[in-house]
Amino acid sequence: MAGSDNVVVEAEDVPIYVSSLPVPNVQEMVRENPLRVPERYLRTKEEISESEPGYVNPMLPVLDLSLLVDGNAQELDKLDLACKDWGFFQGYGHTNVETKDQKLDWSDTLVLAVYPERFRRPQFWPSTPPHFKKAMETYANEIRTVGDKLIGSLATVMGLNKDAMLKLHGELVQGLRLNYYPSCVKPNDVYGISPHSDATIVSILMQDSDTDGLQIRHEGHWVPIKPIPGALIINLGDVVEFWTNGKYKSIEHRSMTNAKKWRISFATFIYPPDDIEIGPLALVVDPGRPHQKYKKMKYGEYLRFSLKRELEGKEHIKVAQVEVPN
Ligand code: OGA
Ligand code: NI
Repeated sequence: MAGSDNVVVEAEDVPIYVSSLPVPNVQEMVRENPLRVPERYLRTKEEISESEPGYVNPMLPVLDLSLLVDGNAQELDKLDLACKDWGFFQGYGHTNVETKDQKLDWSDTLVLAVYPERFRRPQFWPSTPPHFKKAMETYANEIRTVGDKLIGSLATVMGLNKDAMLKLHGELVQGLRLNYYPSCVKPNDVYGISPHSDATIVSILMQDSDTDGLQIRHEGHWVPIKPIPGALIINLGDVVEFWTNGKYKSIEHRSMTNAKKWRISFATFIYPPDDIEIGPLALVVDPGRPHQKYKKMKYGEYLRFSLKRELEGKEHIKVAQVEVPN
């Protein structure tokens, strides 16, 4: 885990996110004693009571990216529905630790800034295995194309010109988070990742096809997502919820661990530069119901606010909410 005592000399325009308290490496803990789950990882029954998903709906919409890119009307309709109904479809260090008694998640993570290239800090990229850097670069580059296409399709279903969002927000930023979830002898008492929504435009997850873990909150229930081999999982981030004034929602999700199996996922986050204003887009707000649910704020301000908090579902988006008069 990158130590918080590293002194980093930043290039002038490289944004600094937040620093986090150092925490143990979960993989090491499990290696030393697979039967031990320290108190700091254990959640109360009330907190995690919904971990028995009584509601199983494996029918998360599956979309074909090539049809979307061709502008296929039926596939775009499916995207619009997926965004409205689900907000999810397949197609540095631990999460932030602010206080010494904050509960911890049963995972180790590595966060890399990948685009724009000048944001990369190669000194933090692992040097082993030797092909790691090259593989991450190749993956990030391919996923960037997927992200651009998705954002183009999102603009289309939002009623905008295909290039509108890319033009509006100039150079998008891309980060990559590698999540490693060791097996846990008490899988029902810990979180792999606590419930949260992503402070992104879209997030693109590549995961093992044979290990469950991801769950999303749909109609008040935690729904486990069955991996489909070869499919990427796409979820909308908070920025799309703000742009569309809540028509499309960023969805709360979490990861659970398994008793016997470890799991790895690669989460790509695509988000705007710091100085971009986020808030409902005039063209998207329904003229019949012009109430703006979210205020304009700079993305950088929003991101820092959400990163500084413990993960608490969607509590962080309240900072952008406009008070609703009674
Ligand atoms: C994330 C995330 C889910 C998973 O990294 O933001 O939600 O299953 N990951 O790894
Ligand atoms: Ni997430």
